[in-house]
Amino acid sequence: MQKLNWGILSTAKIAVEKVIPGLLKSDDLAVRAIASRNLEKAGKVAEELNIPVAYDSYEALLSDPEIDVIYNPLPNHLHVEWTAKAIEAGKHVLCEKPLLLTVQDAEHLIKLRNKYNVKVGEAFMVKSHPQWQRAKAIIDSGLLGGIRLYQGTFSYFNADPQNIRNIANYGGGAMWDIGCYPVMTSRYLFGESPTRVIASLQIDEQFGTDVLSTVQMEFSSGIKAQFAVSTQAAAYQRVHVLGTEKELEIMIPFNAPTDQPTVLRVNSADILRKNEVEELLPPSDQYQLQAEDFCRAILENTSEPVTLEDARDHCRIIEAIFESNKKGTWINIQVP
Ligand SMILES: NC(=O)c1ccc[n+]([C@@H]2O[C@H](COP(=O)([O-])OP(=O)(O)OC[C@H]3O[C@@H](n4cnc5c(N)ncnc54)[C@H](OP(=O)(O)O)[C@@H]3O)[C@@H](O)[C@H]2O)c1
Repeated sequence: MQKLNWGILSTAKIAVEKVIPGLLKSDDLAVRAIASRNLEKAGKVAEELNIPVAYDSYEALLSDPEIDVIYNPLPNHLHVEWTAKAIEAGKHVLCEKPLLLTVQDAEHLIKLRNKYNVKVGEAFMVKSHPQWQRAKAIIDSGLLGGIRLYQGTFSYFNADPQNIRNIANYGGGAMWDIGCYPVMTSRYLFGESPTRVIASLQIDEQFGTDVLSTVQMEFSSGIKAQFAVSTQAAAYQRVHVLGTEKELEIMIPFNAPTDQPTVLRVNSADILRKNEVEELLPPSDQYQLQAEDFCRAILENTSEPVTLEDARDHCRIIEAIFESNKKGTWINIQVP
């Protein structure tokens, strides 16, 4: 298989700690270069992670003719601008979630993607993790019976005013940072988008961002979803899917560790969980798998794992969540 050369746009924490280590495990690609606004920072990461080239500007990275794919982990408010610049430089782009902060930006990027004939994906690494693929297979098999309810929680505590998650102008807040996961995964599991939402968001007075948010979503099939996300609560994450006959539990749904098996539990209609069946999946690195899935889409000219059209739907749902919080009512969502 042809090896694609990746370039990393900034020394973001997620890039340095998770995504580049995942890329480096793969035989299917090469990490060729990293750029930072500060050459010293880029050079330090390049040396530590054995990346051949360090650039002192994002523009220099985009001008490198050896680079095939740009990974964009900039703060949320810079995703569209730098994804557009990378496309115009003829690069494929895997951009961190949330790719969009407004639905309006979707059409511009879709046009650019089509014009330059490149692949552009939203980096929801969970979709590449075998535990989510197995969860979907269990649901599709009918084992749980008719699907009734998705219930999700995702939280951590971070009150650092310098952190991008706590800066409103950067697209900070719990909903954009982690609320996008229940939105994306419920849509993935059920193969449909919610048609209406209602939400209550607690806004932090200092940051102006949402820090404790609860959401209900309804799907046209009758499935309901409810989730809570917080940037100021104890670190916790869990997803349950309730069918008419059985319940599925994903124990560490979003940050599955790479060095231990992931756990799915299926529980029969039994309140004491005596009939619970535990499934262990071998350890895997969802960032490595995400990159390999994206390379395959490029090389085989198939659809990106999470497309720009998916990103537009995710954004449309999150916009409706903010609107619902503002108006205090259900908001209908027009699915294209
Ligand atoms: N998929 C996941 O598991 C996951 C997990 C965490 C975060 N994320 C996403 O990844 C992105 C980055 O998150 P992060 O926590 O890694 O962020 P971060 O550590 O704050 O990194 C952001 C980087 O962007 C660059 N940058 C350019 N302009 C900036 C500005 N005005 N202010 C601050 N930084 C600026 C900086 O790199 P240079 O100084 O090198 O130029 C900085 O290191 C976000 O979109 C987030 O949603 C995804």
